Amino acid sequence: MPGVRPLDASLDLVEAATDTASTGPRELFASKRVAPSILSSDFSRLGSQVEEVMAAGARIIHVDVMDGHFVPPITIGPLVASSIADQVHDAGGAIDVHLMIESPERHIEEFARAGADNITFHAEATPHINRTLNAIRELGCLAGLAVNPGTPVAAVSESVNDADVFLCMTVNPGWGGQPFIADSPDKVRRLAETVGAGTIEVDGGIDAGTAGGIAAAGASLFVAGSAVFGADDPAAAYTAIAEAAGAA
Ligand code: DX5
Ligand code: ZN
Repeated sequence: MPGVRPLDASLDLVEAATDTASTGPRELFASKRVAPSILSSDFSRLGSQVEEVMAAGARIIHVDVMDGHFVPPITIGPLVASSIADQVHDAGGAIDVHLMIESPERHIEEFARAGADNITFHAEATPHINRTLNAIRELGCLAGLAVNPGTPVAAVSESVNDADVFLCMTVNPGWGGQPFIADSPDKVRRLAETVGAGTIEVDGGIDAGTAGGIAAAGASLFVAGSAVFGADDPAAAYTAIAEAAGAA
């Protein structure tokens, strides 16, 4: 299959790939962006769905990994990330991996090899937050730390200098298509005060109606799954959410 980076690629290949991408992803994650989540896409035509949203301006593609333990469903893994990585990179984009899995430290290298540019894991999923953030950066990726709706902002306070992305879940993780939790803007405001310059990503229930309020609260990276890929015209839906968020 063209465009797939073998998962047993040598470390040299991984280093070369991350070197090439090292200026792009950092800038992308520092800018205001809507990141379509392929969780809600039609996997029988994943490449063309990605192409459609990238043609509309998307540059960060969000990949939701679930293990059936940290959250009930099982979704996708490094093979699927790898299958779109070259397409996304060749179009000037980046892969944003969201790990909703227990013991994420056991899997980060596989995702780095698969072409991830950012790897985010949950603060609730491991006692080894500092080690895992450092290991992700050592693999040449940006490092992200996520918190569930019921987890206090203080869970990231000792990681402000160790993470590049702070992900505030605006639904409980596990499923697309859930309603946005109304208290989320308040939490994002408190998160923004805590993390200073780090990117604040929001995930869950983001659409053209919710994006503006959460942007005003301080979010700059807006994951949208069902509102993009569940729409009749994903490109138009992407554009509407980006406009509502004031994003590129
Ligand atoms: C949920 C995932 C989300 C999901 C969002 O656990 O982390 O990324 O795709 O889906 P929507 O945008 O439909 O709420
Ligand atoms: Zn996600």
